[in-house]
Amino acid sequence: MEKLVIEGGNPLEGTVQISGAKNAALPILIASILSSESLTVENVPKLRDVATTCALLTQMGLWVREAGPNAYELSAHAVPNPLAPYDLVKTMRASILVLGPLVARCGEARVSLPGGCAIGLRPVDQHIKGLQAMGAEINVEHGYLLARAKRLKGARIVLDLVTVTGTENLMMAAALAEGRTVLENAAREPEVVDLAHCLNAMGAKVIGAGTDVITIDGVERLHGARYRVMPDRIETGTFLVAAAMTGGKIKLEGTSDGSLDAVLEKLRETGATIDVSSGTMTVESRGRPKSVNVRTSPYPAFPTDMQAQFMALNTVADGTAIVTETIFENRFMHAQELKRMGADIEVEGNTAIVKGVANLDGATVMATDLRASACLVLAGLVASGETTIDRIYHLDRGYERIETKLSALGASIRRAS
Ligand code: EPU
Repeated sequence: MEKLVIEGGNPLEGTVQISGAKNAALPILIASILSSESLTVENVPKLRDVATTCALLTQMGLWVREAGPNAYELSAHAVPNPLAPYDLVKTMRASILVLGPLVARCGEARVSLPGGCAIGLRPVDQHIKGLQAMGAEINVEHGYLLARAKRLKGARIVLDLVTVTGTENLMMAAALAEGRTVLENAAREPEVVDLAHCLNAMGAKVIGAGTDVITIDGVERLHGARYRVMPDRIETGTFLVAAAMTGGKIKLEGTSDGSLDAVLEKLRETGATIDVSSGTMTVESRGRPKSVNVRTSPYPAFPTDMQAQFMALNTVADGTAIVTETIFENRFMHAQELKRMGADIEVEGNTAIVKGVANLDGATVMATDLRASACLVLAGLVASGETTIDRIYHLDRGYERIETKLSALGASIRRAS
């Protein structure tokens, strides 16, 4: 199994290129199911989750080809095997995103139920409720969701809670449904908007993405398109925190505008200076950062996918911070690992109280999920001595060449087996 070995203490300096957004690329690649013509997707990050998505689509019978270093051409001329098997779904929960497109395009789908994961229970009841409202018949058999519908019918769906992939699944299904679908209490995340733009480029009629009411007028068929995935705002945020923690100055290129305001505001509270201009950001931080309280909430508030990284920052900040996680019930697994590096953290329910310490000690730690892994990398960058991070396959699911990018910025980090 591969590990990352980090020698802490180097401030980051230089320029880093931000990759395409994982959480936009996955649904956009999956949207190819909806059309018999080919979809070319650009700015796709090279990640394990992308490879899993391509494997999933290939085993369904789609034709998937790399069309450049970060581009894929996908063609669902036919979808002979509308199935998402357990083996793939268990490695990537986002596989549930095929459910809506398969029912809409093929009239049937067999998708393994994802089950719980390291950050929480993560049920998919809202995905099911929405598809049932559109006329799908859904049963659970042997751990699989079996969905059937002759042609889905537009419906008014009020989601009980804000769900990102739930909104995306239903938006894709509604694109080929008969009549109008109105999704209320929809997720407003920029990745939902990116998917809507891609669907519209394929001939769909989606309006309101980015607000909590999305209206989709179903069409008979979608056509092929070429689409460029938005930049990854969570990768961007992770590098910004890295610079703020190590006390350096870095320039990030290929960033998205306006999708990270809550994170930028919190970073400025730590004392970092951030300049934003179209497509680039420059962050500079000197000396010890100040503690900041964070509370996760759906977009546009502070993202749960940045909570672990801010916890890492708070472990070495000046002061005490309260970190509250409201999206996932079990997303504090990194706290235990940070404590092994000397952090002072007390977790009670969905709240962590983090008292900043003067410095962390390098240690061998274990990554438990994707963002927890990123948090441990950040901690390793400032810890004294060597930090070894095990189970970095989690990191490879969502960060493209993180060790190469950090090395180029002056970090001492290498991959070892
Ligand atoms: N939920 C339900 N029922 C549902 C759907 C969701 O109860 O039918 C609950 C979840 O258990 C959770 C909350 O609603 O408590 C929000 O979950 P959401 O459905 O929004 O999460 P998701 O769509 O499964 C996406 C991202 C996550 C990100 C969350 C929240 C993708 C592929 N994944 O997950 O990304 O944390 O939204 O923003 O888009 C990551 O990249 O590391 C990651 C975990």
